[in-house]
Amino acid sequence: MYIYADNAATTKMSQRALDAMLPFFTDVFANPSSPHTPGQRAAEALWQAREAIAAVIGCSPREITFTSGGTEADNQALLSAAWNGAKIGKKHIVSTAFEHHAVLRVLDKLERQGFSVTLLQPDRDGLIAPMAVDQAIREDTCLVSVMTANNEIGTLQPIAEIGAICREKGVVFHTDAVQAAGHIPLDVQAQNIDMLSASAHKFHGPKGVGFLYVKRGVELHAVLEGGGQERGKRAGTENLPAVVGMAAALKESQEHIDKYREKLTIIRNRIIDGIKENVPHCALNGDRDKRLPNNINMCFEGIEGEPLLLLLDHAGIAASSGSACASGSHDASHVLRSLGLPEEVSRGSLRLTIGEEITDAQAAHIVQSVTEIVARLRSLSPVWHDCEIGKRPFFFD
Ligand SMILES: Cc1ncc(COP(=O)(O)O)c(C=O)c1O
Repeated sequence: MYIYADNAATTKMSQRALDAMLPFFTDVFANPSSPHTPGQRAAEALWQAREAIAAVIGCSPREITFTSGGTEADNQALLSAAWNGAKIGKKHIVSTAFEHHAVLRVLDKLERQGFSVTLLQPDRDGLIAPMAVDQAIREDTCLVSVMTANNEIGTLQPIAEIGAICREKGVVFHTDAVQAAGHIPLDVQAQNIDMLSASAHKFHGPKGVGFLYVKRGVELHAVLEGGGQERGKRAGTENLPAVVGMAAALKESQEHIDKYREKLTIIRNRIIDGIKENVPHCALNGDRDKRLPNNINMCFEGIEGEPLLLLLDHAGIAASSGSACASGSHDASHVLRSLGLPEEVSRGSLRLTIGEEITDAQAAHIVQSVTEIVARLRSLSPVWHDCEIGKRPFFFD
């Protein structure tokens, strides 16, 4: 029995998405930009995929631009809004300290180019208060970017409220919904969203494809220059099989969204409670309820996350200590640090992102394995020993 509990890093392709893709490698393989009949069949499939995705998030197909994934969608959204702002002398951006690096690194770059950036700190529960966004917006603010769901701790932000504030103040609102799309319902109109990024491999679609929603009236700029694909906003021959797979996966996720949420929330809470009952001096990171149904992120005092992951792998459990992009680096997670956790404590983190296929027996195996491995690592840890003999204080009760 091997348990894959790293669905925030990536998900397994759904059979339906894979089946939908296959004819587009061998049968409908023509270039959608070609005017001949096979090309037009490909163009028609591209349009149908655009329509299917638009229907799920509640926008017009013309407001969807296909990209190579979440990173590209985030880059294009932020750069476009910044360039639009600069044209009218607005060069201030509001975002949060716990965004994905696909947002934070673009903001760093914009700062070096003369933009000013306000990064809001989440509260201890990993939530951003709409009031904090309201107060951070200035006369010269051109963009607010707040992620829908955090990739490490899974907390869900009050997107509709933040969007309403931005709309009232005439500021463009972007949300990185890469972890949210396919997992919780999204509606760009009801949630007052102007730009939204998503990535297929997070909702059982193929890797290397995503989309950016941009509300009509907000100017989108090309970041990749070349051919006139995607109405001149994203050059390069479209990855038609991947786009078709993404549309099929998003539709399928949408169909299962309530059932998935119900099942996973119950199992998620059972795992959290089980670990907390069995392991002293640990804590759940992020609000218990305002979080993705499949996300468990915990810190264990006195140990490091890396050996925990290694031993969990030996016990047949694939987990993570944070985002996949950051693993391998020994820096403490910027997300956990933004919650106010000391560096030492945030190094002892574990992220489990369970999948729909999880069984009760697997959940019990996770609880048992985490309990045993944490105890084993603590028995070897000088930090834990110091806490036990009162030489250093425990951070968690
Ligand atoms: C919140 C968030 N934004 C952006 C990305 C980047 O997406 P992609 O891997 O499709 O480039 C990720 C990937 O982990 C993510 O979790």
